[in-house]
This record gives sequence, C-alpha cells and structure tokens, in this order.
Amino acid sequence: MTTTDERLRDTCALVTGAARGIGAATAELFHAHGATVYLGDVDDELGERVAAKIGARAHYRHLDVTDESQWTRVTTEMADRGHPMRVLVNSAGAASKASIMQTSLADLRRMIDLNLVGTFLGLQAAGAAMTTGGSVVNLSSLRGVLATAELGAYGASKFGVRALTRVAALEFAESKIRVNAVCPGSIETAITAGADFADDDMDAYVKSIPLQRRGLPLEVAKAILFLACEDSSYITGSDLMIDGGTSAGAKTPKHPTRP
Ligand SMILES: NC(=O)c1ccc[n+]([C@@H]2O[C@H](COP(=O)([O-])OP(=O)(O)OC[C@H]3O[C@@H](n4cnc5c(N)ncnc54)[C@H](O)[C@@H]3O)[C@@H](O)[C@H]2O)c1
Repeated sequence: MTTTDERLRDTCALVTGAARGIGAATAELFHAHGATVYLGDVDDELGERVAAKIGARAHYRHLDVTDESQWTRVTTEMADRGHPMRVLVNSAGAASKASIMQTSLADLRRMIDLNLVGTFLGLQAAGAAMTTGGSVVNLSSLRGVLATAELGAYGASKFGVRALTRVAALEFAESKIRVNAVCPGSIETAITAGADFADDDMDAYVKSIPLQRRGLPLEVAKAILFLACEDSSYITGSDLMIDGGTSAGAKTPKHPTRP
C-alpha cells in the first residue's frame, strides 16, 4: 500500500493481534501513513510474515496480551530502540458463542482474560510509556453496545472495554493521552471461523444490516487511523460505531395494508 499522506510520520505505534484481521489491516495502513509499527501477536509465524510484507518500518514481536511481563519487554525494547510508543491499538481478541447456561466458567474466564484484561494491561503499558502524550484505540464491538443473546462472555468483555476506555480517557487526559474505542459490527475476518458460529445464517444476518453487507478490515482500520492521529485531537473517551448502521435503530416494521 502506498500513499503520500503521512499522518503518522515520526510516530511509533504498537498494534496487538496484528498477525491477521483488523490488527494486520491497521498495521499496514499505519505504515502506509508513515508510522514505524510494531506488530504484537502470539502467532509468530504469521506475524513475522505479515510484518515482512508490510515493509521496512514494520517489526513483529511476540506479545501475549494477557502477560504483563511481555508488555514490559516489548514497550521497553521499543523505547530502547528509539521508537517510544505513541499510539497503541488493542486489537488482540477472540469470540465465543453460547448461552449463559452453556458457557463454561473456563470460557468466560478466557474471554475476560484475553479481551478485557489484555486491554487493561495495554492501558497500563500506555500510561507508563506515553510520557509525552499519545493515543490509544481499543477494540470493543457492536456486541459491547447492544446486548446479544448467546454472546454473554464476549459481550461482557466488550462492554467492559468501553468502560475501561472512558475511565482511562478521564485518568490519562492530564498526560495528553487520548483513549477511544471502536465498535465494529460484523467484519470479514477469521474471528467467527470457529465451530461456535458454524450454524449462523449469514444471509439472514446480512439482510438485517442497514448497509446490507459485512464490513472489511480496512474500513475499521481507517477509523482507527483517524482516532490514532491528530485529526481527532479533541476526541477522547468516545465510542465510534462501525457497524453498517445496525446500532442506529430498527426500521419501521411493515404494517398490513388497512382495508
Ligand atoms: N471481526 C469482527 O466481526 C469484529 C467485530 C467486532 C469487534 N471485533 C474485535 O476486533 C478485534 C480484532 O478482531 P479480528 O476480527 O481481527 O480477529 P482475528 O481473529 O482475525 O484476529 C485476532 C488476532 O488476535 C491474536 N491473538 C489471540 N490471542 C492473543 C493474545 N493472547 N495475545 C496477542 N494476540 C492474540 C490472534 O492470533 C489473531 O492474530 C478483536 O478484539 C475483536 O473482538 C471484531
């Protein structure tokens, strides 16, 4: 990807979950806009390959977001190499689908640990590393705004991400660190490739989206870029819906013709 728009020139960003999906698209877009980008993930083979494909200012590092010591290792290394973190995108995450009665405690804890604790540790790392200010973008979800049956564990983690986003925005404002969340609807990535989602009727679902299609990772990445750079300099503590209109409300149901 090439562009003459260098909105992130001289900016160093860390994107978690960057081996694929929204994280990978974001890392590539940031690089195209002049950033030095560190890609963190647990899929080392894919992460290395994606970083090499993106370009010379892209560096892959193993980063399990649930492990505090790994955050310290990566952000310390960035600073030592003259690339102090100024932008953080907390994109690492996973989804599971089951009713509350069918959700095991282990799965609930896995969702909370990865999606919520991972974001919490990222915020702590940003608070420590962004000594001259910066921007954090957290990945919440449409399902962190609209409660959705069978997405209890995932939804709880993503509602929590929005709460942490607002609290961090308030606490970090003095340090000139802005914190915002994006809330994507259904985006075409591998996150729902697992067995939990195999029975979903995707055609019916797509018909329920006002824009009548799923979103693309690049469409989320463009919104993240906006929140990461100075174009959004007066925005903090906000949620940006990227859901094709789903959360706007419901269309008026068609009434039967009156006699
Ligand atoms: N795709 C969607 O429809 C959608 C909708 C709303 C929100 N989101 C959110 O966007 C974010 C990215 O989702 P995606 O669709 O790109 O998913 P994805 O499954 O394509 O990518 C997730 C990435 O996170 C990595 N990861 C998993 N566990 C990790 C860990 N412990 N530490 C570091 N990395 C880890 C995976 O290896 C993978 O590369 C997630 O937080 C997800 O909840 C996605």
